[in-house]
Amino acid sequence: MPKMPYRVGMTLESAPDSVVSAHSATPGSEWWRTAVIYQIYPRSFADSTGDGVGDLPGITSRLPALAELGIDAIWLSPFFRSPQKDAGYDVSNYCDVDPLFGTLADFDRLLEVAHGLGLKVIADMVPNHTSDQHVWFQEALASPEGSPERDRYMFRDGLGPNGDIPPNNWESVFGGPMWDRITNPDGTPGQWYLHIFDKSQPDLNWENPWVREQFYGILRFWLDRGVDGFRVDVAHGMIKQAGLPDYTPPAEGASMGGTGTDDSVLAPAIEDPTAPPEPPYWGQEGVHEIWRGWNRVLAEYEGDRVLCAEAWVDPLQKVALWVRPDEMSQAFNFAYMFTDWKAPALKRVITESIDAFGAVGAPATWVLSNHDVVRHASRLALTKDSPQGAGIGPNSPGKPDPVVGLRRARAATAMMLALPGSAYLYQGEELGLPEDMELPDESRQDPTWFRTQGEKYGRDGCRVPIPWESDRPAYGFNTSGHSWLPQPRDWAPFARDAQDGVPGSTLELYKDALRLRREHDLGSSTLTWVKGYGRSVVAFRTGDVLVLANLGKVAVELPVGEILLASEAITGGALPTDTTVWIHA
Ligand code: GLC
Repeated sequence: MPKMPYRVGMTLESAPDSVVSAHSATPGSEWWRTAVIYQIYPRSFADSTGDGVGDLPGITSRLPALAELGIDAIWLSPFFRSPQKDAGYDVSNYCDVDPLFGTLADFDRLLEVAHGLGLKVIADMVPNHTSDQHVWFQEALASPEGSPERDRYMFRDGLGPNGDIPPNNWESVFGGPMWDRITNPDGTPGQWYLHIFDKSQPDLNWENPWVREQFYGILRFWLDRGVDGFRVDVAHGMIKQAGLPDYTPPAEGASMGGTGTDDSVLAPAIEDPTAPPEPPYWGQEGVHEIWRGWNRVLAEYEGDRVLCAEAWVDPLQKVALWVRPDEMSQAFNFAYMFTDWKAPALKRVITESIDAFGAVGAPATWVLSNHDVVRHASRLALTKDSPQGAGIGPNSPGKPDPVVGLRRARAATAMMLALPGSAYLYQGEELGLPEDMELPDESRQDPTWFRTQGEKYGRDGCRVPIPWESDRPAYGFNTSGHSWLPQPRDWAPFARDAQDGVPGSTLELYKDALRLRREHDLGSSTLTWVKGYGRSVVAFRTGDVLVLANLGKVAVELPVGEILLASEAITGGALPTDTTVWIHA
C-alpha cells in the first residue's frame, strides 16, 4: 500500500467545516430542481428497424432499463423532421417526427410508456436556426430582398462593388465563414445569409415578432402532447449585436473554463478584466426577453415544466442570468464539465456554481458528458485540454489512458451525483463507455470534420451506438448488425448485460449512486466543505453523507464510518487515488 502522507488529525465532528451558500429546493419544489436527467441521442440508443439508426420505438422498448437505472427524466436530442445534416439539429419541420425515427404516434406511445414508468420527458428545441430545407427558408429564397419572408432570417448585402465579400468576418462554429451567398431565382448572385453553424442551418431573425409567434405555437404543440419541458439549443446565440460588427476570436481554448486553480473554495468569482470580449453573436442581452416569453407559454400549462438552457457563456454568473425566476429553469454547467481533474479547481467551481445559480433561486446543475464533447471516461485522462468539438481520432497525439480515464470517470460521477441540484447523464456513460478514437475517416458524419477539411475530428466519437448485449449483432443496438457509425470491436465488456448485476461494474455503481442519492435526499441537501483531508481531496458533507474524492497521487486515510458507496474497492482503511467514497456521517 502506498505511504500515507496525511494524518486526518481531527475527528469528523470537530472538523472546521465551512458552509457554502445553502442550496435548497425553495422557492419551489418542482421536480427538476433535484432531477437526474438522462440524455438520449436517438440515432444511437436503440434501433427497432435494423436500418442502422436508432428510433423512437427502439427507445420505448428500452425505457424499463432506464427506470431501473434510477433516473428521473429523459431528454431526447432532436427527432423532428430534418435532412440530418447536423444529426437532427437542422430542423425542417418542428411539428413532426422524422420518418427515420418513427411517427408522431410513436412519440405519443413513448411519452405514455415513460410517464407510466415515472419518467419525465424533455424535448430538444432548436430555435436559433432551421434547416435550409424548412419551408420558411425556401419561401425566403423565393421572395425578393426586403420581403417579410426574407426578414425571417439574417439576410444582408455583401460588401465590395459586386457584393461578393461576406457582410462581416465571423467564422462558423463548425469552421469556414459564417455567411453563404444565395443565387436569385433569375440566376444572378444575391444576398448573403448568416449561419452560426453549418451552411444548411440558416439563423433565424429573432428580432422579428413573426418568428417569436411561430415558436410559441411549436412549444404549445409539444406541450399539448404532454412533454415535460424543453432543452433549448444554442440559447445564447439567438440575438446578434446590432450592426453585426467584425469579431476575431481569441486563440482556441482561451475562452472556456475560468475556474481558477487556487484552493480558495469561498473566493468570490471575479470577472477577469483581461478576458476577451464576448463574441457579438453570443450572450446578447436581447435573448432574455425571448425566454420570458417562453416562460409565459410554459406557465399556461398545469404541472411543473422545465426549460433548460444550452448557454455557452462565461462566467457562471452570466449563465445564471438565463435562469432568473421569469426565464428558464436551469442551464448546463459547462464550467464544471470542463474543469480539470484537480481538487482545488473542482472545489472552486462547485462553490461558484451553487452561489451563482443559488443567487437567482435556481438549482445548480452538473454534467460531465454529452453528444458534443469527448466522453468523460476519455477526457479526464487527457493530458491537455480538449477544446469542445475538436474530437480525438486515429492520428491524434497523446491518446488518453483508458484505465486511468475510466477510474477517474467513475470517481467524477460518484462526486457529481452527490452534489445538490440537478445532474445530467449522457447515454452510455453508465456503461463507462470511452470515446471511440479509432473511427475510420470515411465513416465520419459531423459537419465539423468536413468544414475543417479533416483538421478537426469532431464529435462522432461520442455518438457511436451504445452496446446492450455483448453477444448480439451491433451489441443488441438492433438485430441487423448495421450501425450508422461503426462500433468498436472491443465493446462487449461494456455491454449492459455484461455489467448488469455484476458487483463493481460501472452500471452497478451508477445504480447504487442514484438509489442512495434519492434515499439520502442529496439533490436538495446543503453542501458543507470539510477541511483536514489535504489539498488533493474534495471533501464535503451533504445531508448525512460525507463525500471524499481523492484526486491526489497517494492514498489518504479514511475516517471511521459506514461506506455507502465507493467508486473503487476500498481495502485497509485508505482511500486510493482517483477514488470517491460516500460515508454515512
Ligand atoms: C448545439 C448542439 C449541437 C449542434 C449545435 C447546432 O450546440 O448541442 O449538437 O451541432 O447546437 O445546432
